[in-house]
Amino acid sequence: MKVLILNGSPRKGNTCVAVNALQKGMDAAGGFEVMEIKANDMSVSGCIACMACECNGDCVFEDDTNDVIDAVEAADAIVFATPVYWWGVTAQLKAVIDKFYCRFEKLDDMPKKVGVIVIGEAEQDDPQYKIIPKQFECICDCLGWDMLFAKTYTAGEAGVLAQDKDAVAEMEGLYDAFL
Ligand SMILES: Cc1cc2nc3c(=O)[nH]c(=O)nc-3n(C[C@H](O)[C@H](O)[C@H](O)COP(=O)(O)O)c2cc1C
Repeated sequence: MKVLILNGSPRKGNTCVAVNALQKGMDAAGGFEVMEIKANDMSVSGCIACMACECNGDCVFEDDTNDVIDAVEAADAIVFATPVYWWGVTAQLKAVIDKFYCRFEKLDDMPKKVGVIVIGEAEQDDPQYKIIPKQFECICDCLGWDMLFAKTYTAGEAGVLAQDKDAVAEMEGLYDAFL
């Protein structure tokens, strides 16, 4: 199974801890071909609603957009892993998600398994941990994708999540949802 991890964090912090734990679990289980794309390392401009993609099926920008969307298209499963920025996903990840529009017709026809990992500084009773999974639920409903898990964790300073052994153990086992 080809798994694409879309990492929305710009730093080596808690989201990296989550992604590494997930990948460790997948490597140990076997049968997963994992690719991680860090949205912050990509040059993906904001969608300008030019609608040219409706004619040619690609984004007109000559940046990394089409390569990233190629990877989305090729994946059997996608894990969105993001810090919370202002009650939402990071701008870098949102820029990638917006570009799904340029291959809407194709992506809409492709069954995909989806997982979501959200990490914020706030405690778990904050509305952000409902808002963000709900957003992904809506995206998956729209594209006919199968959202299999949405896990939310509390961690502020970079690396704090690594100290939460229960959370790390849970993340190592998340691959199970894709089997
Ligand atoms: C610009 C910015 C906005 C943030 N907004 C929120 C927020 O709305 N809610 C929250 O709980 N944490 C917020 N945080 C804290 C991060 O979500 C938190 O530190 C997270 O662990 C960062 O993940 P990372 O270490 O993978 O980068 C914000 C951090 C930054 C830099």
